[in-house]
Amino acid sequence: MISGATLLERADALAAITETPPALTRSYLTPEHRRASELVLGWMREAGMSAALDPAGNCAGRYEGTKPGLPCLMLGSHLDTVRDAGKYDGILGVLAAIACVEALNRAGERLPFAIEVLGFGDEEGVRFGGTLIGSRAVAGDFDPALLELRDAAGVSLAEAYRAFGLDPARIPALARKRGDLLAYVELHIEQGPRLESEGLPVGVVTAIAGFTRLQVEIAGTAGHAGTVPMAGRRDALAAAAECVLAVERRGSAAGLVATVGKIEAAPGAINVIPGTCRFTVDMRSADDALRESAVAALTDDFRAIAARRGVEIAIRGTQSSKAATCAPWLMDQIGAAIEAEGIRQFRLMSGAGHDGMAMTRIADIGMLFVRCARGISHNPAEAITAADAEIGARALLRFIRAFKPKGEPR
Ligand code: GLV
Ligand code: MN
Ligand code: MN
Repeated sequence: MISGATLLERADALAAITETPPALTRSYLTPEHRRASELVLGWMREAGMSAALDPAGNCAGRYEGTKPGLPCLMLGSHLDTVRDAGKYDGILGVLAAIACVEALNRAGERLPFAIEVLGFGDEEGVRFGGTLIGSRAVAGDFDPALLELRDAAGVSLAEAYRAFGLDPARIPALARKRGDLLAYVELHIEQGPRLESEGLPVGVVTAIAGFTRLQVEIAGTAGHAGTVPMAGRRDALAAAAECVLAVERRGSAAGLVATVGKIEAAPGAINVIPGTCRFTVDMRSADDALRESAVAALTDDFRAIAARRGVEIAIRGTQSSKAATCAPWLMDQIGAAIEAEGIRQFRLMSGAGHDGMAMTRIADIGMLFVRCARGISHNPAEAITAADAEIGARALLRFIRAFKPKGEPR
């Protein structure tokens, strides 16, 4: 049977595979990605699946149904992390899905559909800046232009695939078509405080907020910190500071959040006025129209700030995604599984992005959330209990056992 303690032990084992010990950072196509994948593929095989790394560096496992080749229920989440990450974001969903298959296999159960478990190699976008690369490849939305993305060391995504032993020319063939999948279902930690405040271990996700990401570059004039009068300065960092506050102000409107997560000023010396400054913007909302109008208003703010300060500004959209809605028929089946565990059904939306956003291109998606302590995530203090992990995985197993594809009577 499913053991919450084992799920947490496996998360610990994966957390030990890091580029930045003792902090956890595991990014796409790194030696740590490979080591984590070997561990996960081993667990998949032990659970009775055939398993291999796919051409996009995802761990892909398959458990056949009552006969080989049936359409699949796909389960998954991601195995990469942010910098200085927690142990459960993404990871828990992959481990829970493997545990469910293991339970079926131990009981000798085959279902009238196959189960595939995907441990996506890139969701966070830490190394190359494009998010959801793993799931977009599976969903047939891998843009070859992504291959030109470069990491901080100047290595292109194409070069990184080759160094990892993968041939990027094989990625397009990975694309699944609508109809191959009966549904895509993901268990994930909530990364917010709502389940905790409701006193509930798990909940049903209704939708995933959409996002817009910008890269902004301000060019002013570098100069001597001691001699250039304050009135005549074109300080790129001071201009960026005003922009950051504009982001905070626009993101504070109802239904929106917005963050500047990365900022760099150059030349970066204590006695030099910053001549250039680059920063990122991440704005999210469940309401696409609201997000789009807020992004337009924000870029007007940026241009007005730059004009008033006499600096140049370049604003580039790096990525955006529409909000993704979870399918009501899947919400109902996930909710029924949670109730069968004796837990009140609670529905909530996700402010965080998930692989399901990519998968909506080819399948209806459903998600269930597991409570995490104080809603903390993208932080090493991320914490869950073994009991909650176990309840989440048990609810997922119940859902799988009772799963009826869309349109089939329940
Ligand atoms: C992914 O974790 C995101 O929401 O940025
Ligand atoms: Mn994350
Ligand atoms: Mn995640």
